[in-house]
Amino acid sequence: MAGLSLPDRHYRQFRAYRNGNSKNRRGIFGKPSIYLRGLVMAHLVEFKKVFFTYEPGSATEAYALKGINLQINRGEYMAVVGPNGSGKSTLARHFNGLLLPSDGEVFIDHLSTTGSTAEQMKEIRKRIGMVFQNPDNQLISSIVEEDVAFGPENLGVPPKEIRRRVNRALAALNIFKYRRESICHLSEGQKQLVTIAGVLAMKPDCIVLDEPTALLDPFSRKQVLESVQRLNREEGIAVVFITHFMSEAVHFDRVVVMDRGEIIGDGPPRQIYSRGELIREAGLDMPVPARLAAELAGRGFPLDPGVLQVEELVHSLCQLRSKI
Ligand SMILES: Nc1ncnc2c1ncn2[C@@H]1O[C@H](COP(=O)(O)OP(=O)(O)OP(=O)(O)O)[C@@H](O)[C@H]1O
Ligand SMILES: [Mg+2]
Repeated sequence: MAGLSLPDRHYRQFRAYRNGNSKNRRGIFGKPSIYLRGLVMAHLVEFKKVFFTYEPGSATEAYALKGINLQINRGEYMAVVGPNGSGKSTLARHFNGLLLPSDGEVFIDHLSTTGSTAEQMKEIRKRIGMVFQNPDNQLISSIVEEDVAFGPENLGVPPKEIRRRVNRALAALNIFKYRRESICHLSEGQKQLVTIAGVLAMKPDCIVLDEPTALLDPFSRKQVLESVQRLNREEGIAVVFITHFMSEAVHFDRVVVMDRGEIIGDGPPRQIYSRGELIREAGLDMPVPARLAAELAGRGFPLDPGVLQVEELVHSLCQLRSKI
C-alpha cells in the first residue's frame, strides 16, 4: 500500500476488515490495529455546534464562533483560511482546551474538552500539539535539544525515551545538526522548526499551527511548509494549518474557509477556488498563478482554468507553447 495517502490506506484496510479478509483485522493483543481503531472509532477531532464569546453577558457580547461543526480524521492534511477576525485563532485554541466552548462541545478522540478531569485534559494535550505565529513566545530553553526535550520531560517520559524522541524529532525536521546550538543564533525559520520539533517530540496525533509562517521570509516559509507536509505524509500526523497565504493553502488536501465565526466552505482546494463568490465573500485573494492564468485566458490564451500552483501554470504555459 506504499504510495497511498493515509486516508486511502485507512479506507482500504477498513474495506478489507469489513469484508473479513484482512490480516489486520486484529492488531497484536487482539485489538483492532491503530488504523482500524481510527476508522471504527470515528473522528480524531469533532466540533459539535460550537459557539464562543470572549465577553459573556457584557453589553458588547459578540460571538467569535457561531455554531461550528467540524470533523477531522486521523492523518488529514488541512488548511484553514479566512480574513482577519474571522475566528481562526479562536477555533485553534479550542483544539486543546485553551478555550472552552460557550455552547456546544469539542471532542478529541471521544474526550470532551468541557468537563474533562485534569488527567483527561493532559491526555488531550498529548494528542494535540500547538504551534503559534511567533517562535520567540514558545521557546523556553536556550539550547535547541533542551528545548525540544522540554515537552516530553513535562509528560514524565523516561530520560532514555526522551533522548530517542528528541533525536528523531530533530532529524525529521532536518535540524539535527543544530542540536547543540544556542537558539538565539538561529534564524526565525529555524526557530519555528525547533518549536515544531518540540511538539513532535510529544508524539501528537494532530498538530494545529496558527499562522506559523506569518513572520517568516519566503525561503523559511517554504521550509516550514515542506517539513509539515513530511510529518503528515511520513509520520501520519494530522495537520491543521492556519494561513493567510492562499499560495500555501493550495498545497493541502482540504481547505476550510472561515468568515465571521462560521465555516462557509470546506473541500479540496480546487473545489474551493472554483467558487469565485465564496472567495470574494470571504475577502480572500486567488492564488497568483490562478489569477495570472485567468488574466491570460481573458486575453485569448487558452490556459487550463484549474491552474492553482506555480508548477501547474508552468506546465500549462509549456503546453500552450508547444501548440503555437
Ligand atoms: N482576547 C479577546 N478578547 C475579545 N475579543 C477577542 C479576543 N480575541 C479575539 N477577539 C475577537 O474575536 C473575533 C475572532 O478573532 P480571532 O483572533 O479568532 O480571528 P482570526 O481569524 O484569528 O484573525 P487574524 O487573522 O487577525 O489572526 C474577532 O472579532 C476578534 O476581535
Ligand atoms: Mg489569528
